[in-house]
Amino acid sequence: MILVSVGPTVGALLAPAFARDLAAAGHEVQVVLEPRTEHFVGPGAFAPPTRVVEAPLGVPGAVLFAPATAGTLARLARGLDVDPAGAFGRDVPVFVAPDLDAATVSHPAVQANLEALRADGRRVVLGDGGGLAGVGEVVALVLGGLGGPMAGLRVLVTAGGTHEPLDSVRFIGNRSSGKMGLALARVALRLGAEVTVVAANVASREPGVGWVDVETVEQLRDAVLERAGSADALIMAAAVSDFTPASVAREKIRRSEGVRSVELEPTPDVLKAVREQNPDLFVVGFAATHGDPVADAREKLQKKGVDIVVGNDISRKGLGFGAEENEVHVVTRGGGRFVPRASKTEVAREILKDVLAGIKEER
Ligand code: CTP
Repeated sequence: MILVSVGPTVGALLAPAFARDLAAAGHEVQVVLEPRTEHFVGPGAFAPPTRVVEAPLGVPGAVLFAPATAGTLARLARGLDVDPAGAFGRDVPVFVAPDLDAATVSHPAVQANLEALRADGRRVVLGDGGGLAGVGEVVALVLGGLGGPMAGLRVLVTAGGTHEPLDSVRFIGNRSSGKMGLALARVALRLGAEVTVVAANVASREPGVGWVDVETVEQLRDAVLERAGSADALIMAAAVSDFTPASVAREKIRRSEGVRSVELEPTPDVLKAVREQNPDLFVVGFAATHGDPVADAREKLQKKGVDIVVGNDISRKGLGFGAEENEVHVVTRGGGRFVPRASKTEVAREILKDVLAGIKEER
């Protein structure tokens, strides 16, 4: 169980979101509203399964103070009365997300308290100018700190399908729903990784992860290249268009213009560019193939210089694009294995096992 102690600052408005995201990652979450916090957020804002309690029911596996006031920092740092973590013993990990203004955060006494907390093994995350960090950062701090098998790893996932504009209203797209990519992001987060999703036209947002919206191949490439340098692994689950119209009509093309052909040109190969710039990054590509995907996946593994290619047979009904389930072949440099039909979450879990094993092997 994770105990979230919510302090009385305007940042408390975000507390329902990070409590929900921690619960979504599979943890029981109990919330304590500190005195005066109800001026900012009430118990009704916390949706089940998170529970608002007067005092924790049972011993928590972790305590998160978010938002934490300067007063909470002082009490935590100096071991004063309201430290529920202290009451549970030193083995319970403590996470602190202060919400301070610029003058307060730079005050020597507050700095000394932050230092004392860090020296004491409490994990602290600060947002810009001392304010509350973003929901994704707070969630990543806790999940990463709880020491799952992917703790300490930064994982970049692309999801969805690109849109290449034809005119002001039309585009060339594909049927990718983004479900496989989001499942990978969700499971990696639950395993403790810090996750960023580069989302190409994905309808629903995945809680708890960093998020970058893109539309076209070029935008996706730029977003990935910008972040790949600071990532440990890239998982290219997005269906990236291989072609783009050579020119885009500025206005809507009219039917009265009659028969028309569109000239297409190849898009930049994102995986190849990433590999060239980041030789040490662990990279996972995907191959959607009509028929047995293994040969195609192996060829792409060599050609693109990636570490794993996940192949799936797109001629099978109810699997892959847009579906809830998938069935894949994970092709690695040393071999590969078949992952039989299962929910995309299950399949993601299997793929990430191979990613983890591969990263360990390379280190
Ligand atoms: N991909 C990419 N850049 C592109 C096109 C695809 O990085 N411009 C990535 C996809 O995200 C996927 C992998 O490459 O992870 C394989 O995509 P696919 O379209 O199957 O590969 P291609 O090299 O385009 O091969 P082909 O279309 O000939 O099968």
